[in-house]
Amino acid sequence: MTETWTLSNGKVVKGENVPGVAGGRLRPLAIISLTAWLFTLGILATSARGQGQPGNQAPAVQGPWMDKSLSPDRRAELLIGQMTLEEKISLLHGRGWREMFAPPGSPPPQTRSLGGAGFIPGIPRLGIPDLQMADAAVGVTRGARFGRYSTALPSGTSEASSWDLKLAHDYGALIGRELRDQGYNMSLGGGINLTREPRNGRTFEYKGEDPILAGKLVGQEMKALQEQGIIGDIKHYALNDQESGRNFVDVRIGKRAMRESDLLAFEIGVKESGVGAVMCSYNLVNGTYACENPYLLEDTLKKDFGFQGFVLSDWGGTHSTTKAALAGLDMEMPSDTYFGEALAKAVTSGEVPLSRLENMVHRILRTEFAVGLFDLPPDRKAVDVFAGFDVAQRVAEQGTVLLKNAQGQLPLRASRLHSIAVIGSHAEVGVLSGGGSAQVDPPGGNAVLPLPPPPGGLPPALLGQPVWDPSSPLKAIRAKAPHAKVEYNAGLDPGAAAALAKGSDIAIVFVNQPTSEGGDVPSLSLPDNQDQLVSAVAAANPHTIVVLETGDPVTMPWIDNVRAVLEAWYPGIRGAEAIANILFGDVNPCAKLPLTFPRSEADLPRPKPTQQPPPATEADMVSPFPGVRFRINTRRFEVDYNEGLKVGYKWYDAEGKQPLFAFGYGLSYTSYAYSALKAAQGEALTVSFKVKNTGGRAGAEIAQVYVSLPPSAGEPPKRLVAWAKVQLAPGEVKLVTLTLDPHYLSIFNPDKDAWELVPGDYKVWVGGSSRDLPLSETVKLGQ
Ligand code: BGC
Repeated sequence: MTETWTLSNGKVVKGENVPGVAGGRLRPLAIISLTAWLFTLGILATSARGQGQPGNQAPAVQGPWMDKSLSPDRRAELLIGQMTLEEKISLLHGRGWREMFAPPGSPPPQTRSLGGAGFIPGIPRLGIPDLQMADAAVGVTRGARFGRYSTALPSGTSEASSWDLKLAHDYGALIGRELRDQGYNMSLGGGINLTREPRNGRTFEYKGEDPILAGKLVGQEMKALQEQGIIGDIKHYALNDQESGRNFVDVRIGKRAMRESDLLAFEIGVKESGVGAVMCSYNLVNGTYACENPYLLEDTLKKDFGFQGFVLSDWGGTHSTTKAALAGLDMEMPSDTYFGEALAKAVTSGEVPLSRLENMVHRILRTEFAVGLFDLPPDRKAVDVFAGFDVAQRVAEQGTVLLKNAQGQLPLRASRLHSIAVIGSHAEVGVLSGGGSAQVDPPGGNAVLPLPPPPGGLPPALLGQPVWDPSSPLKAIRAKAPHAKVEYNAGLDPGAAAALAKGSDIAIVFVNQPTSEGGDVPSLSLPDNQDQLVSAVAAANPHTIVVLETGDPVTMPWIDNVRAVLEAWYPGIRGAEAIANILFGDVNPCAKLPLTFPRSEADLPRPKPTQQPPPATEADMVSPFPGVRFRINTRRFEVDYNEGLKVGYKWYDAEGKQPLFAFGYGLSYTSYAYSALKAAQGEALTVSFKVKNTGGRAGAEIAQVYVSLPPSAGEPPKRLVAWAKVQLAPGEVKLVTLTLDPHYLSIFNPDKDAWELVPGDYKVWVGGSSRDLPLSETVKLGQ
């Protein structure tokens, strides 16, 4: 028998409980390990239980806190005054694991959960709504449980390649609308972990390697989402930059480096959106788990960034009660291992002051009031599919990067083509999507039938097979070239693919790199002999065009032998149409890379990925749950981010390495010229310059401003500080004026725990990519 504490009428009561899962408590290591495991296997489905039928909202209740003229803080205060301790604690944790693993024979649970990743029952007597959370990084996930359709948007990397704040707003607004329409009131999207480890299985969910670009994009996305009455969430705070051993990896990094890189992205996102929630991550940072790390949560996020919302743990990322509560964690998800009875006990014993408990509740309720959960509850209705198509296609068109276009191979002229070979990557049926908790169910299911299970093996659904959205490049290409013979070859046999290519005017080879939460890719090479496929096709046909559907950057040993390359990322439900529009010139590409493509992994700060070492002793092997036979390796290990400030392009600049494709790079079917740079220091530094469209097509140029700080600042050679997306008709010139935020010109002084502007000469650079900056001017600042 184990000792437990239960809540009865707001009082903590000591009792006894049977050891095991139901009613008992799962061991912490069990939980973290299981999460990684389940995601790796692709089978995690939280079955949180409340009372009643799915989607019931709390009945309208009258009370002074319902007075909309009062501030969210005042309304929260009034409401907290009415709550018992038991009620307060009930808002601070999910109820996932316990009931998920209820023993066989338990009565079927009644739930109001909509089946999203998280659910916290509200308090009907006070009109507190249920918190219905859904993962929604690239669209609303797990819609299938209630037969709901959601738009599979292009990946976060595609959105980031647009560098378009208005489009990021549209992306967030669409997700917000679809969450509302499906009855959810909180999103679990908003990932902005920087690309320190380009082999990361979740790069596709995030927004590249630059903190200002990522922070501003997520800021717009969260703002838009919250305008729809949905609580936004930025994650995974912080430095969860690799999936390998994510629950056991201890990130080692200096204060200055983290504040100026990964944490700056969160700072900008939080400040620009007033986001309601931040999810702390699985990993440790400098020896302390992120979800109980006072420097990250209390000192930085809450104090320095002025974050007024609540911090929720990643699923199974809570590791303590008192330590976590005092460090700034406000909500344990998805379970109540630490923030249920254990928290009640800690409050009653005085280990956690009641004032801190009330602050946790206050943060949650003030967010619910501020975002509109009490006043504007979601209304379940059918999603507007066509509005979703529109946004998905626009993002894919603005986010597909033209990496190479030798001899003007693109755009294709349909009238001049008699035959087109379309090869590889299931292009006859769909486009690839990213896996894990961000996976959006495609309408009709996976467009590619999963492989049958091996005899006696696990069913395919458990093997985390890649999912293909039903948007067929082959059909879209046929529609663009109705008079040409367009033939498809699956690309499994390079010889057969080359034979088709040889007999065709042009060959378009689709290649892919599946990535997913729960693991990193072993290397940046395309898997499944696809490099060999491209080489064989390119050798057979000089007009070979490669379309990449990847989550991460990839190496391209064949780059010199192909005419054109498009990086389409995971392009979403209208990906094929967007790709075809770009291939045939109905859309002029304008996207620029939000992350560097290295020539070789030898050029990375860590040429080999940092992996969890094998168990040192038997004690490292722990069963994820009492009673289960298998055990997992829980051995901790360190990853040393000793590249420090030099993340992404800053590394390549500082180390004098030539990337394959640089940050900020991307081609267009027209060309641009830059002139007339002026940098003037008034109240802030203002930069103006002219951009001219020197080609024959209308286009949009993403003009970028970088700054080199004075040498005494000890910074990498340059940093991105501003950009503008400039629409230009052929021959048109526009004057662009940008005011630089002084924060982005500053450095973080760890001794003073403050940002400061280093006096000296600042060199301002302007141009079309981090490696193509034709204009520069030096200004003195801070003197
Ligand atoms: C992921 C989060 C996700 C959560 C709920 C975790 O494993 O890391 O990003 O929001 O699960 O699905």
